[in-house]
Amino acid sequence: MPVIKRLPEITGDYVDAGALYLEKFIGAESYAKLYKAVETGEVDPDSEPSSRRSSWSSAASSSFSSSSSVVNKVWAVKILRKPKSYEEDPAIYEREFAMHSRVSSHPNVVSLHGHFVERGYFFLVMDFQAMGTLVHAIRSGVYQRNSALIKRTFGQLTDAVLFCHKQGVYHRNIKPSHVLVDYWGCNPCLTDFGLATTEDINEQLGFGTAAYMTPESFDLGAGPGSYSAARSDYWAMGVTLFNMITRQAVWYSARPVEDVRYGIFLRHRKRYLRDRFPISFPFARLCSRFFTLEPAERPSLLEFNEQVQKLDDLYIDEIDVHTAGPGCSQTGLVERSRTHRGSPALPCASRGVDGAASAGCSSVYLGQAQV
Ligand SMILES: Nc1ncnc2c1ncn2[C@@H]1O[C@H](COP(=O)(O)OP(=O)(O)O)[C@@H](O)[C@H]1O
Ligand SMILES: [Mg+2]
Repeated sequence: MPVIKRLPEITGDYVDAGALYLEKFIGAESYAKLYKAVETGEVDPDSEPSSRRSSWSSAASSSFSSSSSVVNKVWAVKILRKPKSYEEDPAIYEREFAMHSRVSSHPNVVSLHGHFVERGYFFLVMDFQAMGTLVHAIRSGVYQRNSALIKRTFGQLTDAVLFCHKQGVYHRNIKPSHVLVDYWGCNPCLTDFGLATTEDINEQLGFGTAAYMTPESFDLGAGPGSYSAARSDYWAMGVTLFNMITRQAVWYSARPVEDVRYGIFLRHRKRYLRDRFPISFPFARLCSRFFTLEPAERPSLLEFNEQVQKLDDLYIDEIDVHTAGPGCSQTGLVERSRTHRGSPALPCASRGVDGAASAGCSSVYLGQAQV
């Protein structure tokens, strides 16, 4: 059973000894619930004190006294179930906080301010991003045929991911629903470090979201294996860029046997991409090298981004459109995803649950591919 089903609905409650009012539920995926919270500026002295209160709040640091300057300040509060063994080894369960706070100073990582434990739940307090995720921005069409905007946003996100790696933090679950953007689709901020690790080389397979995982990181039941978490992040960034340009998922999962699309890609490379998606030939060439089966042959994220930034256009132009396949036309994107032909539509994660259908999503593929 997904953990969120076992998390309470606490909209309208006060938490952290009354310092935060949970005004609105904003999203949930598999492990947590996110709330928009308003800082009340005071703490109820009679309420059960929360343990491990950290210094996110200016009210908290002013000896719990009322402070009018902080009233109405808005935060995002993430609630996770506190595991039973928390008291025995809290460090394990503070991992998400530890990883996220290590990289939270970067302008393209969501700023994390503190955490506390209350009523048997673990809470993280971070900056609230009102405009939603990259999924919403992609579906709104803000990037459509705007190569300059896509390159800029992708470049900023690359900067954040490489910064995380420099700090020894590998995200392992990069995808559009873990990137928050502003109204114009700019200034991306990476979030959800729930699967992050400090180890580049990992032997525990199967971490991440299928559509964004490298072939070597799947657990195919074939015994022990290992993969690079850094390379997993590179790959997920490539898929995310593909989503931004095409509004579609390139495949459901990069397993040549399980997903026929990836199998066809491996056999036909550029042709597969050029015939099905409205991308420029140079970008198709770059992707054909980037999504290769052999990890050592793939360009690094730094190289990939440098190449992307050099491309004049990420979209197919008027001349090339006549030599490419039917899937590359600009107009057919949404229609094709509805009729099952061609490529999977970008999975909707507007309600957060990976792959779950929600209002407004037109694709029947939602239950399979994941953002
Ligand atoms: N700081 C934030 N501001 C606004 N919305 C957020 C913020 N962080 C997360 N969200 C929303 O909540 C959803 C779930 O958050 P996430 O951290 O991915 O939880 P989970 O650990 O359950 O996957 C995200 O997809 C996004 O829509
Ligand atoms: Mg998540």
